[in-house]
Amino acid sequence: MKHFLVTGGAGFIGSNFIHYTLSNTTDIHITNLDALTYAGNPANLSGLELDSRYKFIHGNINNPQLLDDIFQTTPIDNIIHFAAESHVDRSITDPLLFIQTNILGTANLLLHAKKYWTEFDPQSKASFRFLHISTDEVFGSLEIEEPAFTENTPYAPNSPYAASKASSDHLVRSYFHTYDFPAIITNCSNNYGGYQYPEKLIPLVISNAVNGKPLPIYGDGKQIRDWLYVQDHCEALYTVLQQGTPGESYNIGGNNQPANLEVVQMICKILDDFLPGSKFVPHANLIEFVKDRLGHDRRYAMNTAKIRQELGWQPKESIESGLHKTIRWYLDNNDWIKTTLEKETHKNWLTQNYESRGEKDK
Ligand code: NAD
Ligand code: TYD
Repeated sequence: MKHFLVTGGAGFIGSNFIHYTLSNTTDIHITNLDALTYAGNPANLSGLELDSRYKFIHGNINNPQLLDDIFQTTPIDNIIHFAAESHVDRSITDPLLFIQTNILGTANLLLHAKKYWTEFDPQSKASFRFLHISTDEVFGSLEIEEPAFTENTPYAPNSPYAASKASSDHLVRSYFHTYDFPAIITNCSNNYGGYQYPEKLIPLVISNAVNGKPLPIYGDGKQIRDWLYVQDHCEALYTVLQQGTPGESYNIGGNNQPANLEVVQMICKILDDFLPGSKFVPHANLIEFVKDRLGHDRRYAMNTAKIRQELGWQPKESIESGLHKTIRWYLDNNDWIKTTLEKETHKNWLTQNYESRGEKDK
């Protein structure tokens, strides 16, 4: 039996990872520690309430007493650290929160995990893993002609979000270097799929399009992201946990790099096919260019040769197949998205981010 501590497991990728792990294994127990911020949703884990392998703890990674209690009472042998503030636009309006959660939270988790790990026998020490989930955004922005980021690309974070993740990566790295603490970092590109909070581009565009609302494109819409279907990410993380080398970092990406406007047009076309009777067909008529994000990174792209060659992982989904699955998921889970859309906190965010952003750039 193994016992994973997953932090942030009520969010988008964490909940997908928990479902993925529990449905593909029989010998792993999971304790999910999540503060249930606006982005954490217990409904992402519905169906697991009766699974004896799963336990939820409502709590904060910044709470030292709680971490000590968990480590004293639970035989944790792997930590998969997802908990974070994850939205770039929110980091522009509230950077301090990102420092508290992403930097101080990770520092606190590392401190207590390492204290607990120090007491292990040599064999348990060697098999323990701390997997830190990070982002490609720590590497900064690429020009069109530049080669994709490798694991050796120097860090150059541009947004408060990216800077807070870069800082947490440095802390994790220092724990390996200083204490031999068996930590691994994964830097992943933009994910999409079911259970993603509808503030991020893809679920926002799907839900707005279905409801006949404008589809906001920041700036000229030519920014490029390296889109990865979330199930592929979960498989990569599981592979890194099993076979990755402590002290190393691994890039994870989807090898799908369309511009934002193309992604939105693809979503509109798929919705036209799925909902031919909708009064909003063609959905592309809902596209609206809006004022650009401050400091908006132009292009991200991941070189994934290391994880492919050393661990044998590569993504299964193309952007087309992944978007079909994702759109089907949102159409089939209308209640899930409706509950979030109706929350005051969500409506306030939409007002703050879109209605008050001012005129589009000329
Ligand atoms: P998310 O915003 O959907 O979920 C974050 C979860 O963390 C939520 O459940 C929230 O309640 C929880 N949380 C926040 N602060 C907490 C705290 N102080 N203590 C405990 N729990 C807390 O995020 P996501 O998109 O699932 O991203 C997960 C991780 O993956 C993050 O570390 C993010 O930086 C990284 N990442 C995300 C992407 C992406 O495209 N979404 C890409 C690369 C890396
Ligand atoms: P997002 O999903 O917020 O992820 P990230 O900022 O971490 O890459 O945004 C993806 C891209 O889509 C990014 O270039 C910003 C852009 N975008 C829009 O054009 N309109 C929107 O309403 C949002 C939320 C994002």
